[in-house]
Amino acid sequence: MEWGLENRLSRIIKPETGRTVMLAVDHGYFLGPINKLENPRETVSPLLEYADALMLTRGILRNCIDAKTETPIVLRVSGGNSISNKEKSPEELANETITTSTQEAVRLNASAVALSIYVGTKYEHQTLKNLAMLVDEGMQYGMPVLAVTAVGKELEEKGKDAKYLALSCRIAAELGASFVKTYYCDELEKVVKGCPVPVVIAGGKKLDNELDALKIVYDSIQKGAIGVDMGRNIWQSENPAAMIKSIRAIVHGNCLLDEAYHLFNIEQLKAKTAKRLCT
Ligand code: 5RP
Repeated sequence: MEWGLENRLSRIIKPETGRTVMLAVDHGYFLGPINKLENPRETVSPLLEYADALMLTRGILRNCIDAKTETPIVLRVSGGNSISNKEKSPEELANETITTSTQEAVRLNASAVALSIYVGTKYEHQTLKNLAMLVDEGMQYGMPVLAVTAVGKELEEKGKDAKYLALSCRIAAELGASFVKTYYCDELEKVVKGCPVPVVIAGGKKLDNELDALKIVYDSIQKGAIGVDMGRNIWQSENPAAMIKSIRAIVHGNCLLDEAYHLFNIEQLKAKTAKRLCT
């Protein structure tokens, strides 16, 4: 691997464990100010020290993140649509273009760029071309590309299907993505086996309880994922810091699921006690 590319990637995927806990806060690029991400600075600040990388758009990076941060940045560079179109024409959410150049990503000292691909949609060809173009540009600058196998509204069911996700991840790797982000599914090991680059898992919608979210993380690691790029199940949790610490315990510390959940409860109790003592 070319030195610059390897160096950037090793800032995100920690060489000590070969794994990563990425914090995703890019949701506003098509969802606007969603619950608990209305003020990204407030959401991110207490979590930054526990994140191996932060995934976000350039606007939120510039306006809400301290430039002195040492946390590596994964810059979302695709978009161009919004949730307001969803009811009218759900497939249009997949109509993404490249919104930020690789030069700009270099200027912002990003450690990787990320885009969504929509395999099986009307915009499959366009979004795969976006990926191929970014990889070509990335090769000129030593910039790794993270391909996100987005499913969009029309493919919500397929988004849980190993065969579909294996197809999307493999195509992303074939086109040159340095790593791939996908969803958890029952036969995730088949998805990982067919994908020659590292796979990280998104959390998806906020689950009813933290144990369910930690189970996804635990099962993903057991099935070969090298970590997570998670958002809502961290910062929409009752205790986001406790949640990300417990995820780290699984990803980097090889903790069992019940150990990680125990850690979550201890951290939760500590935070509640500290709050009570201070009021
Ligand atoms: C949206 C994204 C998000 O970053 C991704 O879905 C991760 O966040 P969450 O864990 O909330 O699903 O790429 O397209």
